[in-house]
Amino acid sequence: MCGIVGAVAQRDVAEILVEGLRRLEYRGYDSAGLAVVDAEHQLNRLRRLGKVQILADALDAQPVLGGTGIAHTRWATHGEPSEENAHPHMSGENIAVVHNGIIENHEPLREILTQRGYVFTSQTDTEVIAHLVHWELEQGGSLLDAFQRTVAQLHGAYGTVVMDRRDPERLIAARSGSPLVIGLGIGENFLASDQLALLNVTRRFLFLEEGDIAEITRRAVDIFDVEGNAVERTIHESTAEHDAADKGKYRHYMQKETFEQPSAIINTLEGRIDANSVLVESLGHGAKEILQKAEHIQIIACGTSYNAGMVARYWFESIAGVSCDVEIASEFRYRNFVTRPNSVLITLSQSGETADTLAALRLAKERGFMAAMTVCNVAGSSLVRESDIAIMTRAGTEIGVASTKAFTTQLTALLMMVTALGKEKGTVSAEKEAEIVKSLHRLPAQIEQALTFDKQIEALAEDFADKHHALFLGRGEFYPIAMEASLKLKEISYIHAEAYAAGELKHGPLALIDADMPVIVIAPNNELLEKLKSNIEEVRARGGQLYVFADESAGFQESDGMTIIPMPHVDEVCAPIFYTVPMQLLSYHVALIKGTDVDQPRNLAKAVTVE
Ligand code: M6R
Repeated sequence: MCGIVGAVAQRDVAEILVEGLRRLEYRGYDSAGLAVVDAEHQLNRLRRLGKVQILADALDAQPVLGGTGIAHTRWATHGEPSEENAHPHMSGENIAVVHNGIIENHEPLREILTQRGYVFTSQTDTEVIAHLVHWELEQGGSLLDAFQRTVAQLHGAYGTVVMDRRDPERLIAARSGSPLVIGLGIGENFLASDQLALLNVTRRFLFLEEGDIAEITRRAVDIFDVEGNAVERTIHESTAEHDAADKGKYRHYMQKETFEQPSAIINTLEGRIDANSVLVESLGHGAKEILQKAEHIQIIACGTSYNAGMVARYWFESIAGVSCDVEIASEFRYRNFVTRPNSVLITLSQSGETADTLAALRLAKERGFMAAMTVCNVAGSSLVRESDIAIMTRAGTEIGVASTKAFTTQLTALLMMVTALGKEKGTVSAEKEAEIVKSLHRLPAQIEQALTFDKQIEALAEDFADKHHALFLGRGEFYPIAMEASLKLKEISYIHAEAYAAGELKHGPLALIDADMPVIVIAPNNELLEKLKSNIEEVRARGGQLYVFADESAGFQESDGMTIIPMPHVDEVCAPIFYTVPMQLLSYHVALIKGTDVDQPRNLAKAVTVE
């Protein structure tokens, strides 16, 4: 999704802006641009189709000086990816605007503005903001007044920033549905759509709230709420890592983040479990009371986070004995659902800014859920701020578009939550709790062990490089792990992949089986093993190419058409987390062989902040 960076300083800011855009590249984009104004009121705009590096090269060739500027990476929604559609957009020679999100009423506004004589040079919805600000300024008042009147006319979700060449030390920003954070410096101030963009210039941040408008100069930041009242927002000291944007010894962020999983899980567990039990209070103030009263769990999420929810559904019902539904946020938010008594809503999200998940949370809060909890990876994100309880996954910044450590840490946090719920409801005995907690203690070492299969899986990946389709099979909580595996493969290698609950094969997908259809099976040694073996036979009998990631004690023999990848025996409860890792490695190596853009797959964005 789009990214915004802005700066008001005494020094030249172009490099800060470009570095900020680089740090936002992981979000996905197709063009980049910036506009900088200097003390002599010269405004220079530079936009390029493609990578931030292309913009940086253009800047090297044609340096842009000035202390106030805005910059943007665009992910096309209205109008194709092109230089004309790249931000900043301008009205005349004075007003420059960047914008994340969607202006839903841009068509009627465009019509009104055209009647007023404005000429549009792009197909974007954003350009209406620039012309509206220009128009409102003509009607009188300051840039802030004009901007306040402008945003009052906008419908949709946006984070937007405006700059006026004639007023070169001021930026005005508005947040409505798309995050904006202000970075506080000494004698200089910054803003961005994600604090990560600014970590090289400051660690002190103010998060704008819904409806806030901020006026930012070198020496001051003034914030006004939706009613126009001056408000104070708390200053947060960021603890995010400095070097999150550094790949270190790894070739890709996805690879780095896959290998970070043992330490990420240690961080998730820290202070939340002791030798034998889950410390319920550590899940958040009031968590204990909420869990005691909970009679139903409703999980809402998208993509990989949804898959984590699907695993958790098995756990909530089989371990804690509490009914659980899981739904994709974009469906839930437009469905006329029935709220069950004492139902706890749990949103799952790496970014905490996924538009559909956030909208579902807001809707659910109106519809009588007992409490809203979130399992999230980004402190200060909208989901965290708007939920009653936030359980942070502490995975560290995840930059690769393909989610890896966010997923396994979500599962780790959810397993703790399920255990805590069962304990509070009396369905999980002290012995059972101790057994789960001991498994959680062993988990980081087991994930470490899973990562040692990297070389073997790299060799195996060769078999998939010329394939156009793949089928992943699992049963029980390994069915959603198969879903996650197929999502990973399709998003980074562009191989069409499907996941099926293995028992469902004969109800349709068996028709697809032939020698060109690799079938990847997740086969832990659990009570469904014999059933799964029958499903595997169904594939074998039809000439399918099987790749079975099997518990070494499960008794599989390699044979024609069936490759066995023996996995060490791991505790049953944590096995879904363990088996995720070889699946991530497989997708990664297939994508490498295919030469795709692993960290920024085509058409995808890291944080999906539009509907
Ligand atoms: O930030 P979120 O977890 O809310 O994001 C949800 C999905 O967009 C995300 O998981 C997506 O499916 C990933 N690209 C999958 O790897």
